[in-house]
Amino acid sequence: MNVCVIGTGYVGLVTGAVFADLGNDVVCVDNNEEKVEKLKNCIMPIYEPGLEEMVRRNLEDGRISFTTNTGEGVRRSDVVFIAVGTPAADDGSTDLSYVETVAREIAQHIDRYKIVVNKSTVPPGTGDFVRSILEANKRRRIDFDVVSNPEFLKEGSAIKDSLEPDRIVIGAPCQNVAMSLLELYAPLEAPMLITDVYSAEMIKYASNAFLATKISFINSVANICEAIGADVTLVAKGMGSDKRIGKEFLMAGLGYGGSCFPKDTLSMIHTARKFQQPFPILDAVVETNEDRVPRFLERIRAIVGDLKDKRFGVLGLAFKPDTDDMRDAKSVEIINSLAEAGAKFRCYDPIAMENAKPLLPDDVEYASNPYEVAEDADAIIIMTEWKEFRGLKLENMRDKMRRPLIFDGRNIYPLDRMERLGFEYVSIGRKALLAQATAPVVAPVTV
Ligand code: UGA
Repeated sequence: MNVCVIGTGYVGLVTGAVFADLGNDVVCVDNNEEKVEKLKNCIMPIYEPGLEEMVRRNLEDGRISFTTNTGEGVRRSDVVFIAVGTPAADDGSTDLSYVETVAREIAQHIDRYKIVVNKSTVPPGTGDFVRSILEANKRRRIDFDVVSNPEFLKEGSAIKDSLEPDRIVIGAPCQNVAMSLLELYAPLEAPMLITDVYSAEMIKYASNAFLATKISFINSVANICEAIGADVTLVAKGMGSDKRIGKEFLMAGLGYGGSCFPKDTLSMIHTARKFQQPFPILDAVVETNEDRVPRFLERIRAIVGDLKDKRFGVLGLAFKPDTDDMRDAKSVEIINSLAEAGAKFRCYDPIAMENAKPLLPDDVEYASNPYEVAEDADAIIIMTEWKEFRGLKLENMRDKMRRPLIFDGRNIYPLDRMERLGFEYVSIGRKALLAQATAPVVAPVTV
């Protein structure tokens, strides 16, 4: 099939690469000339495991091409995917201006029947909006259909998620249109769900809102665990063993970040209000998430004391492992806040350091390996659970530190190991190992 994907961000680029790999003829469109030039030379704008190899393979075989010319992309294709950014507006709603611009451009170049597919994360009702823009701006009496086909890939495992999705959701106005899209996805042999357009749009938002709810739920459980001396990782394991709950997304930590959950939860709340259907659970999810970093900072301050000229080593900067994405990364908020009080930093992240530099204070130092961050450090803070941090020889780090103190925002080490190695170790929702008792953030309750 001839496919056009407009927008070469995470979703668009991965979608284009995967469709090409499945044997389709794909043209990817982006209005950023520099990005398109680089893509033509197989230089990826983002880090995503397996992406470069997949694009290279399909560039060489001539199944994928890149252009800034929307008209060319639209005319060559039977199906046009919209995969542009949908950032949050100031009032928490979703800014659909990029979607609107692209819909206008498609309308101008539409020359025969096409299926226009919304892959960007958009609030319910956007299908109608795109349809109305196409109707109002098309130059000829040409028919088209608008479909919602939300994307569920995660950054860091985008290719794998796209090739082995839990489900493919197609929200189409009628069965025939849905069948055309099914054909495109058939080689994946994944479970397919055909719905109306509104329901498909809701599935995407409701899924992200529910996952964010799981995270805020376990983070609230972690707070109580800290107060009573329970271990949230064991609690999550016990809860997750119940199939109805499931073990995924029960990792307590610094709260959800990235480019999706923070904006999608706010947008869902906005949609709920718009339809006079308040969603108090989600209000609490957002509030709980916003409290994660201040709470962690309070603990650091209580234990380290005066921050002036204190040296912190930082392991991990990206919002999550296997990505160089710094959008809503908790490291930014934490480092900037402590730096304001006079703390100094040496940071290490396997791939996100270049992207982090513009977001962090100028005097932050960057290490070439994780061990260097321990040098003369008063404490180490773990912000991202990169796999390579789990296997570090911690005794080598301990010996270089001024105080063998680790604040672990991601619970990557077992408590008994840290105790054995003689670390002071403060993690999330678990007993703090400290040389001297420090007043906990929440007074322990008597049980
Ligand atoms: C998320 C969803 O997981 C995808 O299904 C969805 O397609 C995507 O948003 C999107 O809407 O585009 P992503 O933001 O890439 O994917 O990353 P996640 O792995 O979901 O992590 C999001 C945040 O939650 C991260 O900050 C992560 O550290 C945090 N998290 C995740 C936790 O704090 N605990 C967990 O147990 C899981």
